[in-house]
Amino acid sequence: MIKIFTTLKDFQDYRKNIGNAKVGIVPTMGNLHEGHLSLLKCSLDENDVSVITIFVNPKQFGPNEDFNTYPRTLDQDIAKISNIAFTAKSETVVFAPTSIEDIYPSGFNTTISVKGVTSKLEGAFRPTHFDGVTTVVYRLFSIVKPQNAYFGQKDFQQCVVIKKMIEDLDLGINFIRMPIIRNSEGLALSSRNQYLSEKERVDALILSRTLKQIEHLLLQKDDYRSYIHECLSDKNWDYLDVLDASDLSEPNEKSHELVVIGTYRMGSTRLLDNRVVSIL
Ligand code: PAF
Repeated sequence: MIKIFTTLKDFQDYRKNIGNAKVGIVPTMGNLHEGHLSLLKCSLDENDVSVITIFVNPKQFGPNEDFNTYPRTLDQDIAKISNIAFTAKSETVVFAPTSIEDIYPSGFNTTISVKGVTSKLEGAFRPTHFDGVTTVVYRLFSIVKPQNAYFGQKDFQQCVVIKKMIEDLDLGINFIRMPIIRNSEGLALSSRNQYLSEKERVDALILSRTLKQIEHLLLQKDDYRSYIHECLSDKNWDYLDVLDASDLSEPNEKSHELVVIGTYRMGSTRLLDNRVVSIL
């Protein structure tokens, strides 16, 4: 079963009707790929109702970023969701507000801002990005009122930031981080991969391969820092680092899960990837 709502009012009426049902949310900006669909499938297994939201959030794009050209593919997205919803035992709901005012009514003047963890990595390159993300995610949580929220590991820092927001504000929502889905060659799926030419798609494999090599060195207790230093002579890396996966601080003797994280520029596209490594 699939229900589609394109206005806040219709969605809110529906939400009132389902009362205490167990609700999962899968927030997206659309242009869905197998990564998003894996989140939806997991939510459908774990909840009575799964709400996949599709909203290209203007607040998380910087002034020179791709908000206007970001791929908007609602019909194809709904077709992909329908294929999954068709065989699911629980209910699928698409909330795809067509009006920005439904999310940010005129006079909206609130920003949700997580400090600290947002100032490094992506935050250093996109200073207003995470405030935009946390503000829209909080807003979507307040509309959808989910018990469970599903996010992809590919945006690892986003996961850490949203988890922190949930904890700090005691929102009582379970945060579920889902594994990265890769193409057959290892490139992490992303809506922005379609900006890449054939050649760039092949060249982009430097990202996943480098992270894998660092993971290997880490597990061998080899000198990964020198390797990272060498890699960074290629100026297409915006950053490449190994950090504590819980809060993105520098690893220390208490760290038991690390993240190898990097962003590589391919033309005007920034490609993000990471690998989580357990060190026991
Ligand atoms: O990861 C994304 O697609 C977006 O940042 C999110 C979480 C849907 C908020 O707009």
